[in-house]
Amino acid sequence: MATAENSSAALPALYPPTVTPAPDLLPLHRFLLNFVRNPLSSLPRQVYEEPLVVYETRRSTIVWVTAPRLVEEVLLTRHEEFPKTPVEKRIFAQTLGNGILTSGGQHWRWQRRIMAPLFRHAEILRYVPTMSRAAEELLDRWRADPPGSIQHIDRAMTETTFTVISRTMLAGGEAVEADIIRQAGGDFLERISWEIAYALLRLPTWLPHPGTRQMRNAARRLRTAVQELIDKRRNRSLEAGEADLLGRLLAARDPETGAPMSDENLVDNLLTLLEAGHETTAKALTWCLYLLARAPEWQQRIRDEVIAVAGNAPIESAHIDQLPTTQRVLKETMRLYPPAPVLSRMAANATTLGGRALRPGTNVVMPVFAIHRHKRLWEDPDRFDPDRFLPEREARYWRTQFMPFGAGPRICIGMSFAMAEATAILATLVRSASFEWDGRYVPEPLSRVTLRPKGGMPLRVHLL
Ligand code: HEM
Repeated sequence: MATAENSSAALPALYPPTVTPAPDLLPLHRFLLNFVRNPLSSLPRQVYEEPLVVYETRRSTIVWVTAPRLVEEVLLTRHEEFPKTPVEKRIFAQTLGNGILTSGGQHWRWQRRIMAPLFRHAEILRYVPTMSRAAEELLDRWRADPPGSIQHIDRAMTETTFTVISRTMLAGGEAVEADIIRQAGGDFLERISWEIAYALLRLPTWLPHPGTRQMRNAARRLRTAVQELIDKRRNRSLEAGEADLLGRLLAARDPETGAPMSDENLVDNLLTLLEAGHETTAKALTWCLYLLARAPEWQQRIRDEVIAVAGNAPIESAHIDQLPTTQRVLKETMRLYPPAPVLSRMAANATTLGGRALRPGTNVVMPVFAIHRHKRLWEDPDRFDPDRFLPEREARYWRTQFMPFGAGPRICIGMSFAMAEATAILATLVRSASFEWDGRYVPEPLSRVTLRPKGGMPLRVHLL
């Protein structure tokens, strides 16, 4: 039974910003225009109401799948029939090459096997002090500003999560290259919707689009900086007790041939982990602080919980699993604003899904954003209500109904890392600062592979 302690029933309802769906399936030119502006605005209303929606164009077919049982078929039970798409490969070929995120088959399996042990829950908990220290450093920077200053939360979160990933993945930190990687990564993603739209429509790769040169340039800067990091590490031996992912990748050997990862493949994977490992978590925290600024009563609940568990001491690994309210708020944030808002696969051969015949090569798209706000799956779906994730309620959901980290064999390898990191950073920040909304700012959720707040996230921050 709900109690005053664990229920938000008495709190004012909060309906934070969403994306207005297209009223119906759009003609191709309108679809493209919407897609390039914000891919979420090209999703028709039916995607939030039906289990499966088919969109035929002259060049290709898209099937949007939202019913959990069908998503489960695509990602889990029949995953071999639905591999990752050439679209993803094409978009990221310039940067992430043939690394763990973009490859398939044997080559993917080998890379996943090498990296998996490093990301086990018990293994990543030892990084928690690094995570909370990065948040403490941010608080110190804010303390140096006049009280109640407006802070650019999106930038601050990207810097903080990038600090965490570079200190944990690269024992030395390597500030110069890290800075180049952070900036070039942002430049690359800025124009990415054009690349996705071109790939979905199978337009030739030589055909330029706005931002082609900017993206190529960014990709070159990214790969050169990562290659330099690897060269530096080869020339430096780690101190006793120092261990990082790069060291592990350098030591990895093919179980069958004994061959090490090629330099090119090392660049692919280090870049993949640096990019996938900070941008998504930064977006989860950015949206979370926005929601908290609009729901101060939840800030206070988190603050009370953190003080009860850790007092004023730094957040450590033992605290992470003792902060259920903080984690409920994070989960509800990722329901409303999934950092990876769309997942795609394709039908490898002619097959059927949900009774529909699919031709080989059909794009099967799982719009996580719409699944998380689907009218048949959630009560009052656009409402912010962290109590949806009270254990007894969460236990009733399908495993593919709430899936910010995906599902099946390609599920996010960094899931535990991300949850520990977001919990440690959020707990540290909210304990010592309060976040204030100006009563007007309503940022549009903009899909650029990750879900960004259009126009950034300025919030007033008061240090406590
Ligand atoms: C809130 C934070 C995060 C979210 C929401 C997220 C989400 C996802 C999702 C949805 C996928 C699956 C993509 C697909 O099936 O097509 C994925 C894969 C992946 N993620 Fe994350 N991620 C997060 C944090 C991280 C972190 C911290 C790391 C590394 C340190 C990471 C590394 C990866 C990698 C390497 C893959 C590819 C796995 C494979 O294909 O085997 N992610 N992530």
